[in-house]
Amino acid sequence: MKKGLLTHSLTHSLTHSLTHKELLVGDLEELWLIFQEDAELGKYLRFEIPRNFAELEALFFSWEKKNKNKQVVRWGIFYNGKLVGIVSLQNIIYQSGKRIKNVGELGFWVAKNFRKKGIAYYSAKKMVEHGFNKLKLHKIIASCVVDNIGSQKIVEKLGMRKVGLRKDHYFYLNRWWDMFTYEILEN
Ligand SMILES: CC(C)(COP(=O)(O)OP(=O)(O)OC[C@H]1O[C@@H](n2cnc3c(N)ncnc32)[C@H](O)[C@@H]1OP(=O)(O)O)[C@@H](O)C(=O)NCCC(=O)NCCS
Repeated sequence: MKKGLLTHSLTHSLTHSLTHKELLVGDLEELWLIFQEDAELGKYLRFEIPRNFAELEALFFSWEKKNKNKQVVRWGIFYNGKLVGIVSLQNIIYQSGKRIKNVGELGFWVAKNFRKKGIAYYSAKKMVEHGFNKLKLHKIIASCVVDNIGSQKIVEKLGMRKVGLRKDHYFYLNRWWDMFTYEILEN
């Protein structure tokens, strides 16, 4: 089979297996299992992986509050009905004083047993389309740790432009981490 045809059929089956919807309290058990199975997951994420179920519930309700204030859109990524990750637009700002901003920050992660299938890319693409078409954002930004090649590949494949390098952006696990910043404008 030609590579193009193979890619097309993979894409087709992936989009049929993937659904995205707002996370509900009922999804927390599955989320907890993912966090327990992957001690490394927190390395490139912005939040601490909860140490117990009560912490997970507290994290979820803090997300809910931001959802209500329209500062965040956060979808569970479901592969054949199973929760396998999260994609989000965070820190959404429409206006700051007299300045129109219409900006949001893309984030995503996928559980380790479901990686390298295109799930993060297709989910991020769907969220970017939602950000521009439904939320009427003007700009979407993203930050990737310099060591995180996978996330850089995804945002570059989405057409995001690398705009800079933030040196020593945060201290975690006994070292400073550098981050690349990316952005894409509507149209
Ligand atoms: C980074 C991450 C989201 C990638 O998820 P994924 O579902 O495996 O990514 P995809 O399958 O959509 O991959 C898209 C492309 O990136 C490439 N890629 C993914 N992970 C990669 C890695 N670790 N190293 C090199 N390339 C990688 C894929 O090969 C694919 O390339 P292609 O389009 O040329 O075939 C996932 O590894 C993860 O959740 N990591 C931990 C959390 C994290 O880093 N989140 C991102 C924070 S910005």
